[in-house]
Amino acid sequence: MNDIIILAIESSCDETSVAVIKNGREILSNIIYSQIGIHKKFGGVVPEIASRRHIDKIDLIVEQSLEQSKLKLEDMDAIAVTYGPGLVGALLVGVSYSKALAYGLQKPLIPVNHIDGHIAANYLAFSDLKPPYIALIVSGGHTHIVDVTDYGKYIVLGRTRDDAVGEAYDKVARTLGFGYPGGPFIDEAAKLGNPNAINFPRSYLEEGSYDFSFSGIKSAVLNYLNSAKMKGIEINKNDVAASFQEAIMDVLINKIIKASLEFNHDKIIIAGGVAANSRLRERLKEEAKKHHLEVLYPPLSLCTDNAAMIGSAAYYQFKNEKFANLELNAVPNLKL
Ligand code: KG4
Ligand code: ZN
Repeated sequence: MNDIIILAIESSCDETSVAVIKNGREILSNIIYSQIGIHKKFGGVVPEIASRRHIDKIDLIVEQSLEQSKLKLEDMDAIAVTYGPGLVGALLVGVSYSKALAYGLQKPLIPVNHIDGHIAANYLAFSDLKPPYIALIVSGGHTHIVDVTDYGKYIVLGRTRDDAVGEAYDKVARTLGFGYPGGPFIDEAAKLGNPNAINFPRSYLEEGSYDFSFSGIKSAVLNYLNSAKMKGIEINKNDVAASFQEAIMDVLINKIIKASLEFNHDKIIIAGGVAANSRLRERLKEEAKKHHLEVLYPPLSLCTDNAAMIGSAAYYQFKNEKFANLELNAVPNLKL
């Protein structure tokens, strides 16, 4: 069979990224331009700034990605793009650009769900990985437990009812006066703190539910900090970070292990920005071992937003001819 080469574009949030992917598994190039430096001073992503920056950068990033892959636009078999979920203005830059490219080249256009991309990051990292397996997707915008029955086929077992895990990390980090994005700062601070110092609430919801809720713990941390301040008690930020993180991990790990056992999977994959968290990796591996389950997670560079993962997911859609026409629009609330 001929090789399938896909040019993939990701612009759903604050990374402008373009990748060239061979047969869904091999990264020929993956250029990521991160705007974090720009949004940092606002303590979060400013949508209008993000869209404008994507427009400024996208041409250059496509050029650099092709250069690194040593291929030309004409060598591409298809153009893939993230069309949701994400910030509408940011998504529209990638979607419009990709439509123009696909039309100009007369190649198929592949619409990719960003969350599907996060899962597919594992296909780039593990050449033998095949469905079925169970996936925990934890990012700044999403928290899902998903039964992956085939490539691009999912049964969503649970999702967050309010904040995403990464969102809770970022908000707590902001209250503690850490930088943005807050996840990596909490991860580091927690290594120096006592995870049992403060007993923050663990929200398991109804018996048997695989849904999550993180707004309660976020408020609990805020209340703790406010009341300590009022009483003049000194706050140990490392202890707060470690105790917050431990409460989150207890819930995440409990649910993903339960789901793997209930749905008879022996493999767990984790995906999304929070999959970079060192405590999650350490504790999940430990727990999984007790139940003879295997845990896979992509390297750090493929955990956060990138176009390579979009190109991998797109390959499996290419095989099933799941293409879009030029009416493709951005869908900010796209579900898995
Ligand atoms: O997947 P991602 O790059 O963007 C979304 O699609 O949301 O995830 C970004 C999120 C941020 O909330 C960030 O704080 C979090 O991932 N994150 C982490 C770590 N590294 C990134 N959270 C906890 N620990 C980390 N080491
Ligand atoms: Zn993401």
